[in-house]
Amino acid sequence: MSVLIRGGRIVTAADDYVADVYAEGERISLIGESLDVQADKVIDAAGKYVLPGCVDPHTHLDMPFGGTVTIDDVESGQTSAAFGGTTCHVDFVIQGKGQSFAEALDTWHEKRNGKAVIDNGFHMAVTDLVEGGTLDELASLPDQGVTSYKLFMAYKGALMVDDETLFRTMEVAAETGALVMVHAENGDAIDVLVKQALAAGNTEPKYHALTRPPETEGEATNRAIQLARVAGSPLYVVHVSCREAVEPIQLAREKGWNVHGETCTQYFFVDDTFLERPDFEGAKWVYTPPPRPKENQDVLWNAVRTDVLSVISTDHCAFLWDGQKTMGRDDFSKIPNGGPGLENRLHMIHEFGVRHGRITLNRLVELLCTNPAKLFGLYPRKGTIAVGTDADIVVFDPERRHTISASTHHSKSDYNLFEGTEVTGSPEVVLLRGHPLVEDGELVAEPGIGQFVKRARFGEELRPATAATA
Ligand code: URP
Ligand code: ZN
Ligand code: ZN
Repeated sequence: MSVLIRGGRIVTAADDYVADVYAEGERISLIGESLDVQADKVIDAAGKYVLPGCVDPHTHLDMPFGGTVTIDDVESGQTSAAFGGTTCHVDFVIQGKGQSFAEALDTWHEKRNGKAVIDNGFHMAVTDLVEGGTLDELASLPDQGVTSYKLFMAYKGALMVDDETLFRTMEVAAETGALVMVHAENGDAIDVLVKQALAAGNTEPKYHALTRPPETEGEATNRAIQLARVAGSPLYVVHVSCREAVEPIQLAREKGWNVHGETCTQYFFVDDTFLERPDFEGAKWVYTPPPRPKENQDVLWNAVRTDVLSVISTDHCAFLWDGQKTMGRDDFSKIPNGGPGLENRLHMIHEFGVRHGRITLNRLVELLCTNPAKLFGLYPRKGTIAVGTDADIVVFDPERRHTISASTHHSKSDYNLFEGTEVTGSPEVVLLRGHPLVEDGELVAEPGIGQFVKRARFGEELRPATAATA
């Protein structure tokens, strides 16, 4: 199959120009003015942006968590992603206690087989190096294309690891060329605060935020940075939500240390007062780290503008409000943590980042496409528009008006974090490796089209030869 995209404004992290793009098979083969080629499919992109497919490095599909399982499986989660212009994501495999990494990885491969709508890779969330996976097994994962290890410094009694496990994993990463990712919060201190709140009868959703103060995020962020420095591993801090965590990352980067950070769409728009909404509605915004006081939002915009933070992800971890979030009606600590977001990252960051003058269009591409691809071993196959790269392309109509709503989104969640928000600018056509995925508001490809991508090690490039398996 061949596709010709005519006359669009091609925007990458570095460039912004009008040209045609021609993809033959699954890759881009020509870019130029008024290309003289025949194609099976021609898309008129005059007046539209032609963007690289977005890459989301932080999602949780079909994941057991918080006494339940996230509501979006691979098919619904990835469909939701596709409508939002995301063509590749990296999902978290969670090692169960006592489980080998191989078993955990097999389980996650099984979840996606035959269902995948977009391409994906996997991170390995390490939870047990005592009775579960061994250090040797951990070291073998990059050979299977799993080139990042994730550690939770919170969720005591569930996913949380101690500093020994964190440090040993960092040492393995320093040897194997994997990237260490941390959920940075002080889980021990939070556990004490949660118990004290419940003992005092403080059970409403707002106590989720009050028992996870910003300092607990700042302390863990700094601890992870210092330990990674000792171990000699690169570090990526996920879902940074507040000034207390931004500052140690900024300091580390000023020193030239190998430290990187991401924030997520919701932290720019949702503040701690959302948790106070009546009739338990506040539970919709119970995710971790929690929504912060509003003044943190400007801190985050500045951080993504100046590359203190290099990625905006979604942390898509969707639940139903009715039936899942309500498990915590009488006890905020039983509300499953997380929210849906895969479909609206590009909408929201285009509207409130680019259109409101906070970041440039090039920087949007860098934050949503190019940097996640580079940091997670997907670049240059993913994350840019150039000859030889995968033809993962979003034809984006900057004039199309869209109202974000659970009534039209494709996640199975019964609510949307940004319900009722009006944006101007929306994906019109989405291509995955040259195959039309979304067109005229419909998913036009069959589940199964998505491939597992074996990612390159940190700092290495992913070339077509080391490519994907179905
Ligand atoms: O509340 C959240 N963020 N849920 C997903 C798990 C995590 O901590 O990323
Ligand atoms: Zn987390
Ligand atoms: Zn997460």
